[in-house]
Amino acid sequence: MKTILLIHGPNLNRLGKRDAQHYGSVTLSDIENLVRDEARKADIEVKAFQSNHEGELIDFLQAESESAAGIIINPGAFTHYSYALHDAIKDTGLPAIEVHLSDIKKRETWRQMSVIAPACVLQISGKKEQGYVEALAELQKRI
Ligand code: DQA
Repeated sequence: MKTILLIHGPNLNRLGKRDAQHYGSVTLSDIENLVRDEARKADIEVKAFQSNHEGELIDFLQAESESAAGIIINPGAFTHYSYALHDAIKDTGLPAIEVHLSDIKKRETWRQMSVIAPACVLQISGKKEQGYVEALAELQKRI
């Protein structure tokens, strides 16, 4: 059975309470269950992790990537400035898909740029929780 990593960065533990206009009303566990249910159909195991701390996200990637086939990651605001997270994703050598609930290209100028994107095979943005289902389908083609 293949394993994929589903990683969420800072403030995404607040989904459901946070800025519904941009992020919708689903909670983080709703998203994790959605991805797990879809993955189960393809016999894929999902290891989910959320942290508000950059170093913890990097530690998780370093610890888990050797036994994983791919990554789905919403890096939250780290998207826009964490070169360390970029390097950690790239260093795994795994196909990674970057997901954003909101359409970052239509928001503040500083939010439109992703330093994570060059370490990923694809960016999916603005499709709310459906973006994760699409990410899983795209990842399956690459693992
Ligand atoms: C986000 C977009 C980021 O700019 C923001 O900091 C988030 C969530 C999204 O899912 O739309 O925390 O990654």
